[in-house]
Amino acid sequence: MTQYQTVSDNETVLRDGTIKLHGPQAFEGMRRAGRLAAQTLDALAPMVVPGVTTGALDDFVRQFTLDAGAVPATLGYRGYAHSCCISINHVVCHGIPSDKPLKDGDIVNIDVTPLLDGWHGDSSRMYLVGDVPLKARRLVEVTYECLMIGIEQAKPGARVGDIGAAIQAHAEANRYGVVREFCGHGLGRLFHDSPEVVHAGRPGTGPVLKPGMFFTIEPMINLGKPGVKMLDDGWTAVTRDRSLSAQFEHSIGITETGCEIFTLSPKGLHQPPY
Ligand code: MF3
Ligand code: CO
Ligand code: CO
Repeated sequence: MTQYQTVSDNETVLRDGTIKLHGPQAFEGMRRAGRLAAQTLDALAPMVVPGVTTGALDDFVRQFTLDAGAVPATLGYRGYAHSCCISINHVVCHGIPSDKPLKDGDIVNIDVTPLLDGWHGDSSRMYLVGDVPLKARRLVEVTYECLMIGIEQAKPGARVGDIGAAIQAHAEANRYGVVREFCGHGLGRLFHDSPEVVHAGRPGTGPVLKPGMFFTIEPMINLGKPGVKMLDDGWTAVTRDRSLSAQFEHSIGITETGCEIFTLSPKGLHQPPY
């Protein structure tokens, strides 16, 4: 049974399986954290070029976040030692920044989560490195569409499964595979909270969406089959068939009439080419 908990603005919340319902001040906090996430992704756009290392991009994210008075929530999270995740080509998610340089033709996801004044803004976008083949650009475009089609379902009275079903239908109509192992998640004071937001599912199933809920939608879409495997580093998830994978992520809040996207790009850099 789904349990909801109305939380006041400064209340300490626990990861107790309840879905938190937030008020106006919390929306304001999420707006600020989400905007910073989006500004970070905007600032990265001109930097994602052939030859740059993912470690240098991670250094930039850390400094940009700290300069804004926030902290990268991934730093020290379950032993993760970096300020963002950078997932290249067949890496599905949680790619670890390193001294590896990006090369012409790569497609890259950068996922940032600034923690600002106690609120988490979680967002990721795809970047194209140099000249990217049409097949890969098309995957990136459809993955962005999947995110936005999922967000269109997000309104009071709808269910989490409606979001997943809409995303799955669009991905599979394009003969892509939807990753099942990783989901969107509730967030706010906590980085990862209830509910689990599936990217594939049946309409009319799962928790009912209510005003004041905050969660991410972050579909991972594979050019090939949906299966993933973990690398030995314990973080990096890759496609089993080594096909390309793409992902976009927004943090949203359910309003009385629909939803508010907290992580929209102030510069209009929603999807590549930037
Ligand atoms: N930002 C990721 C998400 O969208 C989580 C990364 S956790 C890390 O939920 F530890 F891998 F960085
Ligand atoms: Co997330
Ligand atoms: Co994220």
